[in-house]
This record gives sequence, structure tokens and C-alpha cells, in this order.
Amino acid sequence: MPSFDLPSLFRARLGENYELHEQHINPTLVQVQRIIGFDKVYARAEGAYLYDQQGNDYLDFLSGYSTYNIGRNHPVVKKALHDALDLDLPNMVQMDCSLMSGLLAEALLKKCPRHLDAVFFCNSGTEANEGAIKFARAATGRSRLIALKGSFHGLSNGSLSLTAAGNFQEGFGDLLPGVVHVKLGDLAALEEELRLRDVAAFIIEPIQGKGVVFPEDDYFLQAEALCRRYGTLLIADEVQTGLGRTGKWWGHAHFAIEPDIMTVAKSLSGGYVPVGAIVTRRSIYQKTFSSLDRCVVHSTTFGRNNLAMVAGLASLSVLENEGLVENAAKRGAQLMERIDALRTKHPVIRAVRGKGLMIAIEFAEPPGLTGKLAWRAMHKMDGGLFIQTVVVPLMSKHRVLTLVAGHNMDVIKILPPLTIGEKEIDRFVSALDATLTALRRPVGPIVELTRNLVRQKSKARQGEKRRKELAGVA
Ligand SMILES: Cc1ncc(COP(=O)(O)O)c(C=O)c1O
Repeated sequence: MPSFDLPSLFRARLGENYELHEQHINPTLVQVQRIIGFDKVYARAEGAYLYDQQGNDYLDFLSGYSTYNIGRNHPVVKKALHDALDLDLPNMVQMDCSLMSGLLAEALLKKCPRHLDAVFFCNSGTEANEGAIKFARAATGRSRLIALKGSFHGLSNGSLSLTAAGNFQEGFGDLLPGVVHVKLGDLAALEEELRLRDVAAFIIEPIQGKGVVFPEDDYFLQAEALCRRYGTLLIADEVQTGLGRTGKWWGHAHFAIEPDIMTVAKSLSGGYVPVGAIVTRRSIYQKTFSSLDRCVVHSTTFGRNNLAMVAGLASLSVLENEGLVENAAKRGAQLMERIDALRTKHPVIRAVRGKGLMIAIEFAEPPGLTGKLAWRAMHKMDGGLFIQTVVVPLMSKHRVLTLVAGHNMDVIKILPPLTIGEKEIDRFVSALDATLTALRRPVGPIVELTRNLVRQKSKARQGEKRRKELAGVA
């Protein structure tokens, strides 16, 4: 009998998930998940599907926020990880150069634009952006930074200073000084800042994750030219748009720009192990590691760990060998066309936009008195209510996971795995069609939300009472 038996532990305790999180992790998140009916207990996952304890399948059009570009539990990555464990590899010796990180750097650079030739590995998207800030500052000797309004670059302090979407900055005190946010498309505002010649970097998401927003014109090309003119580096945050998500290997390729620094994370390790990477020009990289006594001046303990590196190597090979970047372009175009075709039947759909399999569906007040009244009443109750009446039944009635694209937006976002085929497209489009048909009488979805809310409040009250009893306060 082994002293630690994971399968038995898993079988014995599966189902306690939400109680455990409520007690020990983040009860506020548990409350939200219960209210919107996302409090499922998943027992297994494969490809584009999650399975609950009863074996029901859930179509995952969220992909862990674009972490499962190759689908969940891909057998090639799984085998590579088993093999790595069986090899008993020397890991994180630190004062050596491991083979696996060297190999992943080599493989990753083969997929990157040719002018980028140096890699730094870390553990997450936000950490990659933190490093990119430092690299840009060290390379330029400047400290100010420019980001775009509506951007999301992560939630640790440096990245959070760049993040302008939603209310993420509220309540956390002073962030990095010298950060300015300009409007996407406003070249004059950008140039006004750049002209001061004290800006280290301008950071963009090629397609903004919040709302799936991108320029339709050559804004990025012109912004790049301005950056070059004033000696500012251009950083492309490819944490979400990278690795085939948009139908090209990198999101910035849609705009024909050449960023000086690119940040990568999420799908790089196939969703198995945390990973992040900064990819840049050697000349920029060496400005950070500028002398022998500065050889580890930027560093992180787990950055080049074997499991992440092996998962990265296997994931890149899957993306390549299964033609997933091409599939993302093809299936994305089909999906957008099919959703767009629903607009005649459901004029509440205002627009479908995106690239590859990073897609937003935007809703607007429908024509006709009943539709208008329902739309206005819902928005009066809560700016985020309407969109939940789409996301919630997609899950509760059709077992399809989608997400709200950002705070108080009438937009849902879908990020399916790049492996999807016609079956998944059919299921999503008919689920959306049925949901929007039912929404002509929005009472059902609102009742469902309200019922969940009331249940949740009563559960929270019981929990509070029990906590007080245990603390001897009651
Ligand atoms: C564009 C972008 N940058 C950075 C991040 C932060 O990545 P992480 O959650 O790995 O810190 C995200 C996460 O969603 C992202 O979408």
C-alpha cells in the first residue's frame, strides 16, 4: 500500500471541491460560480470536452482562457511528461545549463520572427511582462511606459500598472510611476508621449483580450514607426494571442509589425505546467545581463524547470504536426460565418469579430417594442445582467462554457481549443441559436439567475452563522 495514493484520494474526495475552496481558498469566487451555475464538479477532461461525475460532456469554449490551444490532456504532452519523470532528469541545478531549456529556446525561436533571437523563461504571463518591463528599461535607460486603454497585461504590480481594463487597479495603492494609457487608434496622443524621449516601451496586445478589440487600419504599423523614431521599444504581449490562437503563430503577424520584445505563456506548456517566456533581440537581452556580476540579475527559481520545458517542446510539436494554426484560421472563419448568419434571425447580435479562434459576439438593443423594453429593463437592473442571460443558459441548458468578454460589456468571448471540428461548431451554433430564441422571453434566464443568487445568499448566511458558532461568538 503506497503511503500516498492519489487515485484513491481523488475518488474519495471528489465533490468536496466548492466546500474546500469556500473554507480555504476564495469564497467570493465560489459565490460567483454558484450564482452563474458554473459550480460543476468535473471528473475528467479530454480535447475540447470536460466531463462531470455522471459522464455528461461540457463543450469547453473557454480553454482555460486560452491555455488549452492543443486541447486538454493531449496524449503527446502527457507521454512526454511521463517520459521526463521516468528519465529522472537532473532538474534546476541552477548552476548548470539544462538541456531541456536550451532545446525549448531553440524550438520556440524557430517559430518566432527571425529578428528575435534570445529567450528568457519564467512561470506565467504576468511574470513575462514584468521581465519585459525590466528588459526594456535596461536596454533604453528610460523608465516611462505606455500601454493602451482597455488593455490586460496581468495582475502583479508592474503588469497591473499597465493593465487598464476593468477595475483591477482599484484598492491596491500606488502602482508604477510614469505609466500612461493612450487610446487605441490615437496616434497623436501616442506621439505626444513618445516625443519626450523618456519612454522605454509601448506595450500592446495584438488583439485585446477584454472585448476582442483590434485596429482595422494600419495603426500598429504607424505606432511602430513612431516608436522607432523616438527610440522606444515595442512590446507585443502574445500571452493570449500567441501560439496559433488567432490563426497565425503570433497575433502581431496580422498587422505586419516587428515587435522588439514578445511575451508568451499560457498554451506554451499545453496547459500542464506553469510557463512563461520573453523573446527578444540579443542586443536588448544583453543590456540586462551586461556584466559577469549581473549574470542572474533577472532570474526566477522555477523558470527553466524540466517539466515546463518538456511540455513546451511537446506542445510546439503538436501545434506543428497537427496543423492546429491552420485549423484555427479555417475553423475560426467558419464559426464566425455561422454566427454571423444568425444575425437575421436574432437581431440582438450586433457584430461578430475576431481572428482565428479568438472571437467576440457583441449584442445590442434589438428592434421591436418587446425586445427593446426587455433590453432596457435588464440594463437598468444591472449593466452586466443581459450578458449573463446568454452565458448562464449556454451552460445550464446546453453544457457549453463561454465567458463574458469584460466588465459591463454586452459581449461574450469564445476561445475554443484549436483542435475543434464541425461537430463542435454545430453544437455551439445551435446552442447559441436556442439560447437567443429562449431569450425572447428573458424571464426564464433571469429567474434562474435570481434563484441561484437567493440560494447563494442563504448558503453564505448559514456559513457565517456556523463560523461564528465555531468561534464561540454566536
Ligand atoms: C494578454 C495577457 N497578458 C498577460 C496575462 C497574464 O497572464 P497570467 O495569468 O499567466 O499571469 C493574460 C492573462 O489572461 C493575458 O491575457
